[in-house]
Amino acid sequence: MPDPRKGEEGRFDLLNVGLDDLLLSGSVNSSLELSDIDVALWRNHESLRVRYSSLKQMRRRPFALSRGAEWGARVTVASRELAMGVNQLSRLYGDKPAVDRVSFDVERSEVFGFLGPNGAGKTTTIKMLTTLLQPSSGGANVLGFDLKTEGRKIRERIGVVQQQDSFDQGLNVETSLDIYGLIWNVPRTERKTRIEEVIARFGMQEFRKMPTVDLSAGQRRRVQVAREFIHDMDLLFLDEPTVGLDPIVRRALLDYLKERVRNGLTIFFTTHILEEAEYLCDRIAVINQGRIVQIDTPENLKRRFGSARAVEFKLLQGSSEALASALRSSADVTRLVQDSGTGAYRVTTTRPESVIPEIYRLAERHAVTVSSIYIAETTLEDAFIHMVTDDENDRETEREA
Ligand SMILES: Nc1ncnc2c1ncn2[C@@H]1O[C@H](COP(=O)(O)OP(=O)(O)OP(=O)(O)O)[C@@H](O)[C@H]1O
Ligand SMILES: [Mg+2]
Repeated sequence: MPDPRKGEEGRFDLLNVGLDDLLLSGSVNSSLELSDIDVALWRNHESLRVRYSSLKQMRRRPFALSRGAEWGARVTVASRELAMGVNQLSRLYGDKPAVDRVSFDVERSEVFGFLGPNGAGKTTTIKMLTTLLQPSSGGANVLGFDLKTEGRKIRERIGVVQQQDSFDQGLNVETSLDIYGLIWNVPRTERKTRIEEVIARFGMQEFRKMPTVDLSAGQRRRVQVAREFIHDMDLLFLDEPTVGLDPIVRRALLDYLKERVRNGLTIFFTTHILEEAEYLCDRIAVINQGRIVQIDTPENLKRRFGSARAVEFKLLQGSSEALASALRSSADVTRLVQDSGTGAYRVTTTRPESVIPEIYRLAERHAVTVSSIYIAETTLEDAFIHMVTDDENDRETEREA
């Protein structure tokens, strides 16, 4: 029988072979998520074409065929391979949930950002997914392995940079890296090559012979991040890896991570620096008080939750009270403030395209000159604050109800 999952065409008696069997004959790895299912069917001059974006959708909306006849069929299936599928994962401390039924998928070769305020549950989630902490309930599939029963297999294929550093302080940097590679069974020559690579990449030449105990905080963090790249892995967890790094090393690290992701690495990343998350992450989950508030791409989060945009302008004459009060009463202007230092006006609006001509019209009417004007971009930080504040307000309302 032809295998439709390989795109093989054939004739099927669809009344005998259910479409689910058609797609799922043989074993399908549980980390393999079928998507973009394209079904083309024909019989004599009749034809039918249906597209589904997932198997779940197909089960919900099966299609009807006239009975009893043999149809020709071609089923093309694209698969989306998952690095992680997390399902209702929870962790209680006492009776207080630190992580509260979180569910999300991470695709292979994706940088998945996990953002949230202090105490939101990021580190606790990472500890569970890296098998360092037992979940109270829920589960996850990590790289095709079950978190509950296949912890050892998971540990072999992942890397972790924890929030708190911990390593033997007595060794010098080079030895410390070498021993780390040894623990991971990296062969000697391979270790040498990789150590040289990370030393160059993370600018550690100057202190490669120094005992780690004498390093500055940022230097120690560099060693801690760098050593994770001595061994092979498919999935890397980074819990605020850039804390304490100077801007140059920080950028070098982010660029190195991007390069590794292009070569197939999947990254789970936390940070409080939102520009960094935007620069690196394909998708971002925002977590607050243990619960996931939103998951989307940085662009979409900004678009959906970035507050109204701002138009900034300056007047050649410095200020004009007449212009300012006229502008304040305009329907498109939510807020107008003047920076006492620079003299620049900042207009908050949802419609910059109509506010800008309005500013020029008013300037002419009040005989002043606009010397500069621009639209200030919405930032991810804006969107983040908005999402977390909204969530706090929702909880408040829930409690009151
Ligand atoms: N061992 C523990 N015992 C009791 N409560 C804990 C323990 N570890 C963490 N918590 C609590 O669980 C919650 C989540 O902590 P977690 O370290 O996961 O937060 P986080 O999102 O990583 O925060 P940060 O941004 O500060 O690193 C916090 O309220 C914290 O106080
Ligand atoms: Mg943390």
